[in-house]
Amino acid sequence: MTPEVVATHAIEGQKPGTSGLRKKTPVFMQPHYLENFVQSIFDGTGGAAGRTYVLGGDGRYFNDRAAQVILRMAAANGARKVIVGQDALLSTPAASNLIRKRGTDGGIIMSASHNPGGPEEDFGVKFNTPNGGPAAEGVTAKIFEATQAITEYRILAAQDVDLSTPGTATLGEMEIEVVDPVADYAELMEELFDFDAIRGLFAGGFRIRFDAMHAVTGPYARAILEDRLGAPEGSVVNAVPSPDFGGGHPDPNPIWAKDLMDIMMSMRAPDFGAASDGDGDRNMIVGRNAYVTPSDSLAVLAANATLVKGYKDGLKGVARSMPTSRALDRVAAKLGIDCYETPTGWKFFGNLLDAGRATLCGEESAGTGSDHVREKDGLWAVLFWLNVLAERRMPVADILADHWAKYGRNYYSRHDYEEVDADAANALMEALRRQLPNLKGRLIEGMRIENADEFAYDDPVDGSRSEGQGIRILFADGSRIVLRLSGTGTQGATLRVYLEKLETKAAALQDNPQSALSDMVAAAESLAQIRARTGRSAPDVVT
Ligand code: G6P
Ligand code: ZN
Repeated sequence: MTPEVVATHAIEGQKPGTSGLRKKTPVFMQPHYLENFVQSIFDGTGGAAGRTYVLGGDGRYFNDRAAQVILRMAAANGARKVIVGQDALLSTPAASNLIRKRGTDGGIIMSASHNPGGPEEDFGVKFNTPNGGPAAEGVTAKIFEATQAITEYRILAAQDVDLSTPGTATLGEMEIEVVDPVADYAELMEELFDFDAIRGLFAGGFRIRFDAMHAVTGPYARAILEDRLGAPEGSVVNAVPSPDFGGGHPDPNPIWAKDLMDIMMSMRAPDFGAASDGDGDRNMIVGRNAYVTPSDSLAVLAANATLVKGYKDGLKGVARSMPTSRALDRVAAKLGIDCYETPTGWKFFGNLLDAGRATLCGEESAGTGSDHVREKDGLWAVLFWLNVLAERRMPVADILADHWAKYGRNYYSRHDYEEVDADAANALMEALRRQLPNLKGRLIEGMRIENADEFAYDDPVDGSRSEGQGIRILFADGSRIVLRLSGTGTQGATLRVYLEKLETKAAALQDNPQSALSDMVAAAESLAQIRARTGRSAPDVVT
């Protein structure tokens, strides 16, 4: 089998975003499109010769075909070995774990995360570096440069490799190891969490509903929750990954996981509900009649970490993205540990985790994780909660109430205005930016502004600076409004308005978040003129 060298030309728009290259599937299926990008990953990272990679994806439409192309290209580029998940499946955190555990030169993950999949929906390819995390900006810039300079790619003319059973095979000179996608990940979870305690919880009648949303966590959740931990069969629903995620939108939030929310708020509710996204890195936690916001979940996990085997010696520090509520900061202050505030995007946690400055981190966008891998991890968050519940033996609602009584409650909500005209959105942000110098001390809706700025982050590990990361308005009573434009939208601009209000009065800890935040909504409107500038009377999504 001799590698074919195929002449090609640069294709525009192959610039990796926050999470690799994400495009509509038909774009990825165009002649040379995938091949150009994969060759550019190799070229932009010093070539594949002699290297070992991990390969897997979330099972969406085109995942199986793309895997075969990537394998043939890795072989033609001289890679020594590729470790592939059975049927080309690997959740994002499981891929991160394999890269670290096997000490590989990186990995290629095929996913568009929580975006819908299918012939007309989204596909994506992402390169992770040897630390298991998404490639940093310096690396993705080199890959992008390679996409602009490409003139040829290498691919082996060969039959498909059988990926349906674990074992080894060769493709040309390259070794392929097909692995059970769940085994190593489950082993890691067993090191971190007290499986006996969680088994005891289920044996005592505790009931869970885990919604895998027809995505990649189905097999993981079944193997871990049902087979190993003894949750009754059927506890994991929508457990078979399908190429179009059952026609759904695999994003675990109260809107897209509405079925789960409805059950958890009904008389039929089990003790605990959870969901994860397309590639298994996001999570949603919901108790009986108790939705847990991602910001609160992060704070509760930090506060209870020493109850959990893998974290019993305490946390080195914690980190949250800037728009995530400051509930975490209050826990860190009590524990006497550092709390880092980073820009939106998981990659900003990488340095803190690598340097041992943070153990737990999380984002309001349903991502929670720790230094066990270098991606956020949906099922890990669920197991963390289960371990805490197994120790504390009280309902989720009581855990929250107890947490708020101790630390106060950071009422929190995000209001999204989607597909806003990009010029109007930029003008809104620019107008706010111009007001910043004069906002300090001003009264808005009866609340005094203590400080107002545009967030910039100086990475304490490598000294790099990231500017323009969102506008923060801080009020004297500890409330906060943050406005930023999403970096992941595909149509027009998405304006995100994050509202937060700290409440410490015992009688006011169980209010409806939207009413508790109504004065913050009014303040945001009066400062940013959202209605007039976007032409919208209400947000499209409220979380
Ligand atoms: C992706 C990233 C997250 C980020 C989220 C929201 O899921 O992995 O780290 O928080 O997008 O980003 P956005 O720019 O749309 O608010
Ligand atoms: Zn994801």
